[in-house]
Amino acid sequence: MKFFIDTANLSDIKEAYALGVLDGVTTNPSLMAKEGITGESNIINHYLKICELVDGDVSAEVISTNFEGMVSEGEKLAGLHPQIVVKIPMIKDGIKAIKYFSDKGIRTNCTLVFSAGQALLAAKAGATYVSPFIGRLDDISTDGLKLIEEIRLIYDNYGYETQILAASVRHVMHIMNCAQIGADVITAPLSAIEGLLKHPLTDSGLATFLADYNKGNK
Ligand code: E4P
Repeated sequence: MKFFIDTANLSDIKEAYALGVLDGVTTNPSLMAKEGITGESNIINHYLKICELVDGDVSAEVISTNFEGMVSEGEKLAGLHPQIVVKIPMIKDGIKAIKYFSDKGIRTNCTLVFSAGQALLAAKAGATYVSPFIGRLDDISTDGLKLIEEIRLIYDNYGYETQILAASVRHVMHIMNCAQIGADVITAPLSAIEGLLKHPLTDSGLATFLADYNKGNK
């Protein structure tokens, strides 16, 4: 399973990359705004900084909502750096744009996916990644993980190569459940990735080992 970090925060990206287990980065306009990155040229510079920090795919989202706008923005983003994957919203013109980019060999991430039908359409259009938002489904008392299961089944039935990128991941159990279901990728904040490290028995066991070592070396 690939691990992406879901942030535009450069120090979190550096920290996750230093762990040696990071495969990529996802961003969105809200994550950019959270870091105070506004305006087209600042946003573009920020994508380039992220690409320099990591060796892996970096999702950069288009703002346009019509086909022509998405194509022109997406071509510009894809031309910035070979690591850029163009993130396109799951709307009618978005599907047309994904098909256009797929035919041109430009990689895409279909975002804001909340149903298996949407994921099927994204795969048929040739999306490289599909991003079901599991946390936001949980927030409205729907089972986000069930959606990952449904998409896995459909993609396996037909051999679609679109990778399931579980997004809106909030905690360690989301990551573990996605791994059990067979999501290809999870994108999560640093806190959830680092949460995988933690177990109280590891902490108490290590404290005991160190205390016993020190007793023997007095
Ligand atoms: C990732 O590509 C998504 O933009 C992101 O995971 C959304 O997460 P949120 O629901 O925590 O905003």
